[in-house]
Amino acid sequence: MAVAALGASLWLPPQEFSSFPLWIDRRRGPCFPRIRALAARKNANAAVSSPSVMLVSDLDFTMVDHKDQTHSSLLDFASLWEAEYSRDCHLVFSSGRSPEKYLDLRRQVPLLTPDTIICSVGTEIRYGPSMTPDNGWEEHLDEGWNREIIVEEAKKIATLHFQEDSEQRPHKVSFKVEKKDAEEIIRRFSKKFKELKLDAKLIYSGGIDLDVLPQRAGKGEALAYLMKKANSEGWAKERVLVCGDSGNDVELFTVKGVNGVIVGNAFDELVKWYSSQSSKDHIHFASNRCAGGIIEALKFFDMGPALPPRERPGGNSNGAASPRREIVDFYIFFDKWVKGDIPNTDEAFQRLTSVIAEDARMVYPWGEELNLLQSLAVVRGQHGAFQGKELRTWVDSIQEQELAPGVYLATWQSWEQPSGENRKGYYATAVFKDKKGAPNGVEWLRVHQTPQKQK
Ligand code: GLC
Ligand code: MG
Repeated sequence: MAVAALGASLWLPPQEFSSFPLWIDRRRGPCFPRIRALAARKNANAAVSSPSVMLVSDLDFTMVDHKDQTHSSLLDFASLWEAEYSRDCHLVFSSGRSPEKYLDLRRQVPLLTPDTIICSVGTEIRYGPSMTPDNGWEEHLDEGWNREIIVEEAKKIATLHFQEDSEQRPHKVSFKVEKKDAEEIIRRFSKKFKELKLDAKLIYSGGIDLDVLPQRAGKGEALAYLMKKANSEGWAKERVLVCGDSGNDVELFTVKGVNGVIVGNAFDELVKWYSSQSSKDHIHFASNRCAGGIIEALKFFDMGPALPPRERPGGNSNGAASPRREIVDFYIFFDKWVKGDIPNTDEAFQRLTSVIAEDARMVYPWGEELNLLQSLAVVRGQHGAFQGKELRTWVDSIQEQELAPGVYLATWQSWEQPSGENRKGYYATAVFKDKKGAPNGVEWLRVHQTPQKQK
């Protein structure tokens, strides 16, 4: 019998699993039906108070620190968000990347699945895991926009280099421009646009990228549109936190009613803009880099919990039942156990076994159903098996629903990613029930985990 925890080759499948029947994947489309969080919103368990925040973050060098291959602060953010914020909050990524390049990044680093993704510097808005485009937004951007003229004018400037094709979008023309040439090129372009009465704006980011967009586009305009939509559709959040590091993020900080964080590693152009502002109480200049700065801002603006779950191994300890927190903590425990980050003692292992009902069962990815407590004995023997190895594990898209008083159904996705490889995912479903004195107020009754089709 081969049973194991999570972690790349941790789901040690028996031989026959390698030829698991194809129908497992084929019959499920890309949209695994989710339990809507709506039902959980009115959770009878009033003891868990949940923040109401729309968090809008840039990706490169804001959410994602490309200089940290362990992605530790990004993983901290992911677990904090899933455990404490995801129930009633809305996560938005707002990136300069095209949808295609966003998906590349998603394969490479431990990113959560956002509720909304705004791509191509506020020119494309997409919703949900299926990334359904907001066609209304793009129609709105058509007005007064003439892409061809901009391309023609650009071809006349020798120092201007077009970016790769994937980054040339219907409402975005992008170039690489050396810092020393930037001012002159922007001046020249602006003059030309005025002469031609063209409705375009120029944005310089990261000391190298120049984007030309419709005047109506940009990260700020797109966010204002999304907030208006949230208001009219009744899902607006109490607080909005915007997060950025470079020139194309400036607009985010100017949207009415938001708080903002400039991450500690921000580029000159954003720092200069910040210094030139007279009214900036709504902005926090973080001392930490990237996602570390975002967590710092959640605390600074008192938006909700700001201690990453990895740093509170005893659970949230306020006695409230929270399957969401339990799922996050359980996976962090596995991760620490196989990496040898916690001592190999009965006492430490008890954190795991103490929250599993005696008759709890688990259906493993290779199609075997076992008593969960008994099968976890194998995990005990895997202490330190991944010591020193770069393996990232995280959970995403947790949904929970109280089916009857004190009984909860939860679904989520879990991800594993050895360094340098693409992420591999599982869909999971579990049933929990209240348990007084447990670290997160619940115990596990049943789990079912199925590998996700590789995309
Ligand atoms: C991303 C995009 C690029 C854009 C830059 C700044 O890197 O891929 O096209 O110019 O962001 O907005
Ligand atoms: Mg950035």
